[in-house]
Amino acid sequence: MQLFLDSTDVAVIKDLAATGLVDGVTTNPSLIAKSGRNMLEVIAEICGLVEGPVSAEVAATDLDGMLAEGRKLAGVAENVTVKVPLTREGLMATQAFSREGIKTNVTLCFSAAQAMLAAKSGATFVSPFIGRLDDHGADGMGLIHDIRTIYDNYGFDTEILAASIRTSGHVAQAAIAGADCATIPPATFQDLFKHPLTEKGLQQFLADWAKTGQSIL
Ligand code: E4P
Repeated sequence: MQLFLDSTDVAVIKDLAATGLVDGVTTNPSLIAKSGRNMLEVIAEICGLVEGPVSAEVAATDLDGMLAEGRKLAGVAENVTVKVPLTREGLMATQAFSREGIKTNVTLCFSAAQAMLAAKSGATFVSPFIGRLDDHGADGMGLIHDIRTIYDNYGFDTEILAASIRTSGHVAQAAIAGADCATIPPATFQDLFKHPLTEKGLQQFLADWAKTGQSIL
């Protein structure tokens, strides 16, 4: 299971990358807007912090515009993955990028049928949005299971990138469902380390150790 950070906060990415557990980063236009920074500059900086894929999303919705923007984004660094929306034009752009050897992340996937089209288009990653589906009254995690079944049935090698993650439980459930990767907001990533019984157990061990009066070093 590859763990990506869903963020444009360079300081936060740097801090979590130091754990050795961050396999990549995803961004989107909303996160770029939140950063208040120039997109090309922030993507270049993130690409210098992590070795794995860094998703940078096109803003155009027409095919020619997506192709031009995607090629420019792919030129920023070797580890840029061009993110395109799951639309008819987006999938045509995905096919062109695939022929050119440019990696793609097809985003805003909300159905198994859409995920099948993304795989047939040669997407490197497909991003099903779990949290937004749940907000909509649908079964986000069920979609991950369905896509896993379809991809395994036909031997598609597009990687399932569970997105719109809201809790550490989502991450575990996506792993159980067979997602290849999950992209996680920083606060939720921090939660992955934690369990109340770990903290309680550690406090007890430390208290008992102090009673021994010993030192290991
Ligand atoms: C990932 O690529 C998406 O940008 C992200 O997971 C969306 O999450 P949200 O639904 O919390 O905005």
